[in-house]
Amino acid sequence: MIKNKKILVVGAGGFIGGHLTNRLLKDKNFLVAVDIKPKEYWFQDFENAENHYSLDMKDINNCRLVTKEIDYVFNMACNMGGMGFIENNKAECMQSVLINTNLLISCKENKVKKYFFSSSACAYNTKKQQKVFVEGLKEEDAYPAYPEDGYGWEKLFSERMCRHFMEDYGIQVRIARYHNIYGPYGTFDGGREKAPAALCRKVFKAKKNNEKKIEVWGDGMQTRSFLYIDDCVDGTLRLFESNYSEPVNIGSDEQVSINQMIEIIEDITNTKKLERVYQLDKPKGVRGRSSNNDLAKKVLNWSFKIELRLGLKKTYNWISAEMSKQGSNLSRFTKS
Ligand code: GDD
Repeated sequence: MIKNKKILVVGAGGFIGGHLTNRLLKDKNFLVAVDIKPKEYWFQDFENAENHYSLDMKDINNCRLVTKEIDYVFNMACNMGGMGFIENNKAECMQSVLINTNLLISCKENKVKKYFFSSSACAYNTKKQQKVFVEGLKEEDAYPAYPEDGYGWEKLFSERMCRHFMEDYGIQVRIARYHNIYGPYGTFDGGREKAPAALCRKVFKAKKNNEKKIEVWGDGMQTRSFLYIDDCVDGTLRLFESNYSEPVNIGSDEQVSINQMIEIIEDITNTKKLERVYQLDKPKGVRGRSSNNDLAKKVLNWSFKIELRLGLKKTYNWISAEMSKQGSNLSRFTKS
């Protein structure tokens, strides 16, 4: 367990960064929490951290400032979202390269010991994800390089940047390839939400308004695997404390189609089967994706624990509670 360290989390106002910051605080570390978002849009608040609101880490001067006298850095920051965002904002997504690059340079200057980079399953070769049911992607399947356009290229390039900072300057790096992380305290509306949150929101709305239909992007047959946030934080810390410096999948191998996921949500919420309105012109991404977890088991002795059904139940309960609230509290999770 990481304890009594001075840790910088960049992207602490976001979904994964927020959960990670909370966990590191609970484990009795001193946290410097940074995000480009203003205070009112942070997904979680941290009373016991040194918080830096509205700080743009694309600017190297800000990176230099917050990496001083820091033991460990977790770079959880990027301008991203679900398919609806990354397919329509490729230039925005690629500019996150500045965050990683400037942070690494600053870590080198300030002699930070260890650096974590949050990469993505979008780094994998898209040509290996053209069928509905695919074998879980192994780490070597990122090459030959043909990642998701925009966002995936940034992730793959930044992974290599980390690797070369380790080889050339000796900074220890750890890299996770996350597979669609979901759970409470994440975006569920506004354009950046991923499928689990979007579909929970849509089912809740249909129930509330007594509607009989929901809109689904694509034909619903596309597949993914989804990892619950608590498993993600555990896997991340396990990887950080390991000796393994190459990218590792942090994901689940419970591969489901989007139609199957909707059925699970209907089932856990006692919703009568809704008519699916398939929107074939909406962003769809790859046809099929899942995570091969052999390497994580081997080098981290780690595997996901929370099955999709349970994770969706917790997520739905949180989203429905948020949507039932009145007022501005909602906006931080729904800002586009
Ligand atoms: N977002 C969303 N909203 N997706 C929907 C919806 C909806 O209402 N209905 C169906 N889908 C379908 C999408 O068309 C896509 O085929 C699938 O659900 C999964 O969409 P997302 O969850 O938005 O994205 P993803 O799995 O393709 O990629 C996400 O995960 C990656 C890591 O695995 C993104 O968040 C990436 O940024 C991330 O790197």
